[in-house]
Amino acid sequence: MTESLTVRDNRTGQEYDVPIADGAIKAADLGKIKTGDDAPGLAVYDPGFVNTASCRSSVTYIDGDKGILEYRGYPIEQLAEGSTFLEVAYLLIHGSLPSKVEYEQWVHDITYHTFVHENVKGFMEGFRYDAHPMGMLMASVGALSTFYPEAGMIQDADNRQMQIIRMIAKMPTLGAWSFRHAQGKPFVYPDNDLSYTANFLSMLFKMSESKYEADERLVRALDTLFILHADHEQNCSTNAVRSVGSSQVDPYSAVAAGIGALYGPLHGGANEAVLRMLRRIGSKENIPDFIKGVKDGNERLMGFGHRVYKNYDPRAKIIKKACDDVFEVTGVNPLLEIALELEKIALEDEYFVKRKLYPNVDFYSGLIYEAFQFPPEMFTVLFAIGRTPGWLAQWLELTQDKEQRIARPKQLYMGDRGLDFTPREQRWA
Ligand code: ACO
Repeated sequence: MTESLTVRDNRTGQEYDVPIADGAIKAADLGKIKTGDDAPGLAVYDPGFVNTASCRSSVTYIDGDKGILEYRGYPIEQLAEGSTFLEVAYLLIHGSLPSKVEYEQWVHDITYHTFVHENVKGFMEGFRYDAHPMGMLMASVGALSTFYPEAGMIQDADNRQMQIIRMIAKMPTLGAWSFRHAQGKPFVYPDNDLSYTANFLSMLFKMSESKYEADERLVRALDTLFILHADHEQNCSTNAVRSVGSSQVDPYSAVAAGIGALYGPLHGGANEAVLRMLRRIGSKENIPDFIKGVKDGNERLMGFGHRVYKNYDPRAKIIKKACDDVFEVTGVNPLLEIALELEKIALEDEYFVKRKLYPNVDFYSGLIYEAFQFPPEMFTVLFAIGRTPGWLAQWLELTQDKEQRIARPKQLYMGDRGLDFTPREQRWA
């Protein structure tokens, strides 16, 4: 039996049967509801896309009530425990886990595309001494489209794969160089003997030593953080990538748009706000007063609550565990004690329980990043490196989806109509 929705338009008394498929109705079907042949069709008003599905996707599944996150059907907990970031990237892009041969080829290809054209180095050096690394990353990724003009041939499957490999490979190089620039330190070239994440740490922190090999526990923790950030279905930045990509522009330009979206404080910046909050609380004794202020509506408990998760964010659980490994190497971040106590008190408090407010991915990630000695401006750069395979998997899906068209939302026009223009000389006379 086909499912449908019966809609009665009380303006005309007419009834319409609107088919339901996959739990959704087509907005275009509502467009057939009109008060007359020449009248505009009924539109759906949904600022912020709170209840609008923009695509069919097989990349990432989230059940926010149950706290489930899966990439291509695999639970995030299992991937974080047993996989690597590059294997997860393969899974997201190709849709299934790689064979041994496929994995080795993939790792090889990505490893050997980590270098960037020397001119990229030249223009990155031209940024102001205090340039925000995220702005530098966004600009450099966009600029890559000029180095690979063939990237615009997005109908060509081999060409698409080439650009995907390049972008995943070069992201750590561009991210690390953005970091080094702000510190006034020389750029470090990739070391292709190292793993993806170990090489990133080398490009970030190497000084005069001939080889920089980070502690394996730190490499693993950062690799896990990349896995946790690799995709999160149709969020603000992914929607930006898809929207810009729907114009059939090259993938560098589309991903640069995603980086721009992630740059914003409402998307990528909450972990920095968590650190500021923990620092302000200062010690465990001040927590009850702080919680009272939150409950009185004076401020929010940063790192708590999520638009989708109404349960413990599964990524927060994994990050909490990773904290132990990192702090074993770096020494405990004193803010951890406050964070743990804050979480304990909040999870038992009726205000948070009733509103289903649990720690989100950002509650503990800032603490780990700080232990690595990343300045807060780098947090979103790390997020962007992790999210790149997800953006690209979503972009790839878009390019092959016959139902997709150029993104072009409607508006509800509220302005004036039909005014007569008076030339300046008359208006100002
Ligand atoms: N602290 C205290 N109260 C909160 C919090 C919080 N962190 N989050 C939500 N609430 C309360 C609201 O005041 C509201 O209460 P009310 O019903 O009495 O008015 C209720 O919970 C519902 O909140 P909304 O704002 O409607 O929830 P929404 O889904 O729009 O917001 C958001 C989600 C923005 C994440 C919110 O929970 C928040 O501001 N959290 C803190 C910031 C943060 O950690 N952001 C990172 C999100 S993860 C990411 O982007 C990668």
